[in-house]
Amino acid sequence: MKKRIAVVPGDGIGPEVIKQAIKVLEAVSNRYNHEFILDYALMGAIAIDETGDPLPQETIDICKMSDGVLFGAIGDPKYDNDPTAKVRPEQGLLRLRKALGLYANIRPVRLFASLMDRSPLKEERILGTDLVVYRELTSGIYFGDKGRVEGGCAAFDTCYYTVEEITRIAKMAFEAATRRRGLLTLVDKANVLESSRLWREVVQKMALEYPDVSVDYLFVDNAAMQVVQQPSRFDVILTENMFGDIISDETSVITGSIGLLPSASLGLSSSLFEPIHGSYPEAAGKDIANPLATILSLAMLLEHVGLIEEARRVEAAVELVIDKGLVTPDLNDEHFISCSKVGDVVAMMVESDLDEDTSFDNIFEGNLPLI
Ligand code: IPM
Ligand code: MG
Repeated sequence: MKKRIAVVPGDGIGPEVIKQAIKVLEAVSNRYNHEFILDYALMGAIAIDETGDPLPQETIDICKMSDGVLFGAIGDPKYDNDPTAKVRPEQGLLRLRKALGLYANIRPVRLFASLMDRSPLKEERILGTDLVVYRELTSGIYFGDKGRVEGGCAAFDTCYYTVEEITRIAKMAFEAATRRRGLLTLVDKANVLESSRLWREVVQKMALEYPDVSVDYLFVDNAAMQVVQQPSRFDVILTENMFGDIISDETSVITGSIGLLPSASLGLSSSLFEPIHGSYPEAAGKDIANPLATILSLAMLLEHVGLIEEARRVEAAVELVIDKGLVTPDLNDEHFISCSKVGDVVAMMVESDLDEDTSFDNIFEGNLPLI
């Protein structure tokens, strides 16, 4: 099979984690005889440095031509503390979401049994956690009218939603709930916001078409509490853009494995896959970042283009490296290997059939195991 993939490394640790995912992609291509055509493109602070624009037109064109976009991370501290900066790296990502029509951001949160002790929550609370957030991504307060008035002394942002925008993502979320445990929770602020009342109206009507899905409704403040009190009660969480931004960061830390969580943004012209974590500038260039979330994002991309077996194999390899303790310092600060070694091992596991007894001990001394 031949597929075209746009590769957007971005900022901070983005390039180094993407490099590992590409090793894994090469392993998939060797094992299954696929041809992946990779087109690299710039976005974020690096694109500002090189072109003055966080999202050059060329990047949009490359992404639109692709079967899927693999993206690293965005953001650079030199822009964060300057509220007057006219161009910001994040504008690149927001414009790309709009340009590709990436309206559904999907963030699955699952538990890795061997990493349970890394969670900030007690084990008995997180047991059974298996949820996914469906966040609307191209509308709401992020994209509504905004501006300064009163000579700059007042500012506003508008949360605007159409029935169509709500319906298309709600449909995806209902379908996901049908495939999963049949529970959909709409998170909103319908006691205060008119736009939230529209969300409820639309979702209540749609619920009639999905008799197998039970729907509940939570105000966002209550939801923020419940996701940490009892995360296992959630299956599919559906929400608008800004609530989704906040709730999905919260859900991503529940299991203690933010360095492991992938995400997909599905849309009208192409889809984008990226790790949930940010650009982690303090770690950039040190070869210590955890590449597994990016590798799992690649697995989501493979699944999305129909390469299901390949996706499962990549996921299995990731589980194996975690079980064998072949991880970066964020997961084990006493016994760890580098970012690039994790990439090497996952790629090797994907490409070759390893024996149950293959020893990985020598990897800590700088060698790949002989097979
Ligand atoms: C995310 C990020 C972005 C967002 C930023 C980088 C613009 O926080 O993908 O969740 O707010 O959507
Ligand atoms: Mg966010």
